[in-house]
Amino acid sequence: MRTPTYTLHDGFRMPMGFPIDGFTSALRYRSEPDDIFISTYPKCGTTWMQRIVYLIMHDGAPLPADQTMTTAIPHLEEVGSAFIDSLERPRIIKTHLPFDLSPHHPNAKVIYVARNPFDCAVSFYHHTRGFVNHYDFAEGTFDDYVTCFIRGEVDFGDYFDNVSSWLDHGDEPNFLLLTYEAMQRDLVDAIRRVGTFLGVNGAQDRDILARIVRHASFGEMAKNQQRWSSARPTGMTPFVRKGIVGDWQNHFSPTQTSALLARWDACPMAERMRALWPEIFEAAAASATS
Ligand code: PPS
Repeated sequence: MRTPTYTLHDGFRMPMGFPIDGFTSALRYRSEPDDIFISTYPKCGTTWMQRIVYLIMHDGAPLPADQTMTTAIPHLEEVGSAFIDSLERPRIIKTHLPFDLSPHHPNAKVIYVARNPFDCAVSFYHHTRGFVNHYDFAEGTFDDYVTCFIRGEVDFGDYFDNVSSWLDHGDEPNFLLLTYEAMQRDLVDAIRRVGTFLGVNGAQDRDILARIVRHASFGEMAKNQQRWSSARPTGMTPFVRKGIVGDWQNHFSPTQTSALLARWDACPMAERMRALWPEIFEAAAASATS
């Protein structure tokens, strides 16, 4: 079986290109009360939420063409704490850290985006194949990847540990939980909720809202992808790839489906997670081997 290559930071798997310093200093970052964190497990809608938050904070005006999302809303454990300290406030910070490793301030706001584990695994597989410099997995198969994903032996740790760690804090006042699937179902509602959570009234204005919806659409974000992603070799899927719910049905065999469902069942927050994605859970149970 082929496995992706990672760098281990205190036992935590990270993409090979991420400097050790970034990770270690991220753990020590002293969060400010006006910080806004966009926290996710990888491939769950991070970039989409970064785009939405940026648009909300700028009255619907998109990132200028000469800037990248990586500098406007940087990834804490990639760039490290000194870079985050240098940002204008309020700082908007991306992180894939689980709750226990993530910096906290009681007044800082956290937007957590969760995506069902099946589509997350598919998206993460394409990501891991495509970023050859980070993972050396260009020849890896979906079966290889799913095995690693289910074991939690992928970068940023185990999917279920990450989602559970944040769901456990879901009732706290400075925490907003959204799902990728809910954003797909009703983007306007998701934008309004984020705007209200951040206390930005402009996000309720009809014209601003229309601008945000347009700029945050899949079609718009699929253009000029160097705004969010480094280059990938030809033949690999693009970073903003398909943007749908249910692509897992095109990838998972019944055996792989059963294995991921068994992992889901074993998770202490299994029931809370089933409540987030009842249709996915039922469809997966129906297509699993018994
Ligand atoms: S990362 O690398 O962790 O930051 O990736 P992340 O941004 O979390 O997830 C990438 C997936 O989000 C999809 N995406 C979108 N879907 C719908 N609408 C919009 N506007 C959008 N922008 C990004 C992207 O296509 C990846 O999902 P898949 O399933 O691979 O297409």
